[in-house]
Amino acid sequence: MNFTNSTVYQIYPKSFYDSNGDGIGDLNGITMKLDYIKELGADMIWITPFFCSPQKDNGYDISDYLNIEPMYGTMTDFEEMVRKADSLGIGIMLDMVFNHTSTEHQWFKKALSGDKKYIDYYIFRDSSPDTPPTNWQSKFGGSAWEYVPELKKWYLHLFDKTQADLYWENPKVREELKNVLRFWKGKGVKGFRFDVINLVSKPQKFENDYIGDGRRFYTDGPKIHEFLKELHRDGGLDDVVTVGEMSSTSLENCIGYTNPKEKELNMSFSFHHLKVDYFNGDKWKLQPTDYRKLKDILESWQTKMAENNGWNALFWCNHDQPRTVSRFGDTKEFHKESAKMLATLMYLMRGTPYIYQGEELGLENAGFKNISQYRDVESLNYFEILKSQGISEQDALYIISQRSRDNGRTPMQWTNGENAGFSSVTPWIGLSENSKGICAENEIKDENSVFNYFKKLIALRKTNKVISDGDIDFFYSDREDLFCYKRSLDGKQIVVICNMTKNEVHADFTKYLKGMDMILCNYNDCNCQNNEILRPYEAAVYEK
Ligand code: GLC
Ligand code: CA
Repeated sequence: MNFTNSTVYQIYPKSFYDSNGDGIGDLNGITMKLDYIKELGADMIWITPFFCSPQKDNGYDISDYLNIEPMYGTMTDFEEMVRKADSLGIGIMLDMVFNHTSTEHQWFKKALSGDKKYIDYYIFRDSSPDTPPTNWQSKFGGSAWEYVPELKKWYLHLFDKTQADLYWENPKVREELKNVLRFWKGKGVKGFRFDVINLVSKPQKFENDYIGDGRRFYTDGPKIHEFLKELHRDGGLDDVVTVGEMSSTSLENCIGYTNPKEKELNMSFSFHHLKVDYFNGDKWKLQPTDYRKLKDILESWQTKMAENNGWNALFWCNHDQPRTVSRFGDTKEFHKESAKMLATLMYLMRGTPYIYQGEELGLENAGFKNISQYRDVESLNYFEILKSQGISEQDALYIISQRSRDNGRTPMQWTNGENAGFSSVTPWIGLSENSKGICAENEIKDENSVFNYFKKLIALRKTNKVISDGDIDFFYSDREDLFCYKRSLDGKQIVVICNMTKNEVHADFTKYLKGMDMILCNYNDCNCQNNEILRPYEAAVYEK
């Protein structure tokens, strides 16, 4: 598959569509909605993990890589989904969680029973029962080490204590993981997303981190490029689409991960542009969005990845992020305009777009008022941590409401009927209280909907080589209120102009738009031929 002109649609199966009335989305539910994805125009769906799992982290804690968690369906359901997707020309991308397994995985259980072979699959270290081997912190809060009295050893878990990190230095571990890839490829899978893959190479020596939480020792670790090259070579990644999720990574490393001549991955997710509302890099301390920084990060990643032949995944949302329109747009006065502007700004840049379920409808944050409405392990942990830091319950709830991963995990909204058409019974997690009335059924019919605008953006990339393969140059880089760029290829040009603010903005675009025709605008009564004024959140696309 050509990944430069393709768009990937991300599905969080638990919240996508419940086909059998148990309140939980499932594989048959995805199969039933493939026509919807086709209608939108996406080429591939990335489905987050549905493998056997105790669901402590909603499937990112895998206890069997080769079988399906019963609540999601059966292998036959999976095969049926692949068959239908194939017939519609939609590829399936699976989520490979290779940094860790669930502590319920057979390997870990055997390790606990003292089996030397499997102890070596994980990172067990000696240290006295009251002092972890290092002071590293788990990304979900608390120590990154857990003590096992039976073995008198600690094991490393960068995430929840039920997610034990695998020991990639052990060639047997890498061989097991390649087998997982081969197995799913054999089932007709066309792509893989690798979960926090840049964290798998741990240092030789484990030492305390006196200036941070330990991440500097294992992020983009010593053998990461070597490991990825091996995975590519022996895991049969040549003819599938691959994307790595890169936690706290660097531009330099992402060039290495994605430059085709390195033979590692096709593209990478990086998150620096989604930390521009963190205070001092701390997700749990709120700060208004720094739009200047947002723009600088996007521009520099675009420019440098292009110069060095790297390739970005383009995204605002996923199952770990709040809804973009709530975060960077204006849900009160300019809901549609800002949702469409953000999409234009992001998805016409150089890279492969990833649209997260419900983003194409302009779904908003969950708007939960009570801690009992949350399901996510990270949110529940941090609610306690924040309170233990002396923050009032009410303030802690407010922070969680802005930052919780559950903001993106509320059920997909299909109709205006019961449970938004997601399920015939009460869903496993509540509907977004802020998104009442938003639904796919209505948006498909409304030619000015966010959905139909997304459709146009996706189609544009398919039909226009300047967007899929062209160079990118930014202009008005000094202006914090604007986001503007030019794409060019073989004498053809596309110009994208966005007003990132809720105010009218003035600027002279004459020289950039000379001889160009407007092909898309997010206002229905477009008057973009006026080259000087942009209305609130206005976005327009021109071509020559
Ligand atoms: C990734 C996933 C996230 C998960 C974590 C641990 O960041 O996107 O949902 O909790 O890895 O697997
Ligand atoms: Ca179900």
